[in-house]
Amino acid sequence: MKGPVVLIGMMGSGKTSVGGALARLLALPWADLDQALERRFKRSVAKQFELDGEALFRRRERDLLREICGAGPGVLSTGGGVVLDPLNRAILRKNTAVYLSASTAVLSRRLGGAQAAQRPLLRGAGGREAVLRRLAAGRGPLYRSCAAFTVLASKGGPADVARRIAERLLKPC
Ligand code: S3P
Repeated sequence: MKGPVVLIGMMGSGKTSVGGALARLLALPWADLDQALERRFKRSVAKQFELDGEALFRRRERDLLREICGAGPGVLSTGGGVVLDPLNRAILRKNTAVYLSASTAVLSRRLGGAQAAQRPLLRGAGGREAVLRRLAAGRGPLYRSCAAFTVLASKGGPADVARRIAERLLKPC
């Protein structure tokens, strides 16, 4: 594998926790795009949306995705909106993207309380579940079009999801 295994999917699908577990299983370095953006710009993602605006956040996200994907093998957890940019989609297709899929009901349950406060997009019209349903309708085809394969992320905990991904990755074709 030249570049990283990149985990993509909706907010709440477990990209961060599964990414850490997968990196340990594969003995590869792990990075989380949102956390890396927070470190680099010294602001939480929520604050970057609020103070810098979504457009600037998306440009930063694109630049850092390209940088990390060029840095060699590893596991990269991304933010749910990474597939919105066509250049990002081209990068994902050149690497090994894995789509963590889960139903809106499961995502909404996981994203209650403090989790919701960290995600500015969930404050949209109609409440959390309606926002997630709208986002999933638009993004589902984009995730699928970039992914080498899909795993059901609502089944089992992060370690189990990571194990299923590792099995697929290591399986001889
Ligand atoms: C976003 C998802 C978030 C974060 C930002 C935007 C999105 O990451 O990048 O709030 O557009 O879906 P998670 O998927 O880790 O929640």
